Amino acid sequence: MRLLVQWLTLCLVASLGFTAPADHKEEHGKKDKKPGHELHHEAKLDRCAGIEFDAVITNEERVLYFFKGDHLFKGFRGKAELSNKTFPELDDHYHHGHVDAAFRMQSEHSPDHQDHQFFFLDNKVYSYHKNKLEDGYPKDISEVFPGIPDHLDAAVECPKPECPEDTVVFFKGHDIYHFDIKTKKVDEKEFKGMPNCTAAFRYMKHYYCLHGHQFSKFDPNTGEVNGTYPKETRGYFMRCPHFGNQSVEDHIETEKCSRVHLDAITSDDDGKIYAFRGDHFLRRTGDKFHSGTIESAFKEVHSEVDAVFSYEGHFYIIKDDQVFVYKVGEPHILLKGYPKPLKEVLGIEGPVDAAFTCSGQQTVHVIKGQTIYNVNLKATPPAPVKEGTLTTFKKIDTAMCGPKGVTLVIGNHYFNYPSSMIMLVGRILPPPQKVSQHLFGCDH
Ligand SMILES: *[C@@H]1O[C@H](CO)[C@@H](O)[C@H](O)[C@H]1NC(C)=O
Ligand SMILES: *[C@@H]1O[C@H](CO)[C@@H](O)[C@H](O)[C@H]1NC(C)=O
Ligand SMILES: *[C@@H]1O[C@H](CO)[C@@H](O)[C@H](O)[C@H]1NC(C)=O
Ligand SMILES: *[C@@H]1O[C@H](CO)[C@@H](O)[C@H](O)[C@H]1NC(C)=O
Repeated sequence: MRLLVQWLTLCLVASLGFTAPADHKEEHGKKDKKPGHELHHEAKLDRCAGIEFDAVITNEERVLYFFKGDHLFKGFRGKAELSNKTFPELDDHYHHGHVDAAFRMQSEHSPDHQDHQFFFLDNKVYSYHKNKLEDGYPKDISEVFPGIPDHLDAAVECPKPECPEDTVVFFKGHDIYHFDIKTKKVDEKEFKGMPNCTAAFRYMKHYYCLHGHQFSKFDPNTGEVNGTYPKETRGYFMRCPHFGNQSVEDHIETEKCSRVHLDAITSDDDGKIYAFRGDHFLRRTGDKFHSGTIESAFKEVHSEVDAVFSYEGHFYIIKDDQVFVYKVGEPHILLKGYPKPLKEVLGIEGPVDAAFTCSGQQTVHVIKGQTIYNVNLKATPPAPVKEGTLTTFKKIDTAMCGPKGVTLVIGNHYFNYPSSMIMLVGRILPPPQKVSQHLFGCDH
């Protein structure tokens, strides 16, 4: 019901002519079949208001696309855009206004379809490769996936060895179908205790079922759900300001496990790690975590920082072309005279991507695009020196330096280098590690 209210509010805000949710999914327990009503194309869908998505898929760069009606959201913070900008042909079928289900083919048993995106609309399936519709498509679902019903709710790929064979898992109401890609054999399964999914996707080798504006992580073979689910999709897969009522524990859990990219990270001399994302920060002291709003702890900064580094008992927070300096220790007090222009403090024009200091050194390394500068913090005026170029990555989200060396964070992964020197000359990519799991001890 809460969803319905939110949805209604959304629609009312979006189009004043809206009268009744004649064909609403919530009321009928299935997807709406009529066009236009709720997803008027001028509608400004707000993903942070709590949306029940129709389908989710990743692109070639592993960026998630979330579909709702004739719109899609790209990544964790993209705004609603018309799906037909990216997938024009789906329009031929948009007389019903939404995608039922979608998955991405990764199987080596289907070399012709490797990396293709499949979309399901009514009884048709569309196959896209690099945003181009494959010749001969759309086709009937019964032709390409014999034994799989029309009007699906969700679909997700499950490659070996996560499933015993390369498989696509299809969802329709409470019915689950395992489609063996190689043999085309269909196994009907029962996923006891799992909600009906409106969308399903695989991300970093985990499987997620979306239902309402929540999600559950599930085992693609058994439908088993471990741990405390459902959770709010907004908290983990969207960059949304704090919403609704979350307990302190839930909130820490959200910040630890969120897939949304970090803005900044730093570790102080005691080895405490501070991570910043949107309007929140997470502090790790050994195995203990604390989470809070930037507004409450670093009030002058409000939210959305670009880079943070620690130096001689102070946090330097860089936001756009300003630097805020706070004393480490609570409450965080802004030093007199700050914020100051970044140009004045470090001699560099903003915005920057990351900044870090290594313990015992009096220089800060600043990363802007692929360039790394070195600035002596004792020198006035500051004289940035170009230290080198990052060749392995086009852009990073943030970086820090600690007892284990330099850590570069890119999306959901991080890479450790023994030193910034080795990072600059090294041609070998260190093994990627997961931010949520290995840095913050989240269980997935
Ligand atoms: C895309 O969809 C919108 C609404 O669904 C429609 O008005 C527009 O003409 C479409 N654009 C193209 C290029 O098909
Ligand atoms: C799930 O789908 C089944 C149909 O397969 C339907 O009977 C049931 O009511 C649905 N459950 C919910 C919670 O919508
Ligand atoms: C749930 O836990 C069991 C036993 O620990 C494990 O085998 C299974 O893979 C887990 N499922 C998920 C979805 O994490
Ligand atoms: C938050 O929870 C409290 C108590 O559980 C409740 O009184 C309040 O209405 C809730 N607020 C929202 C926005 O849901």
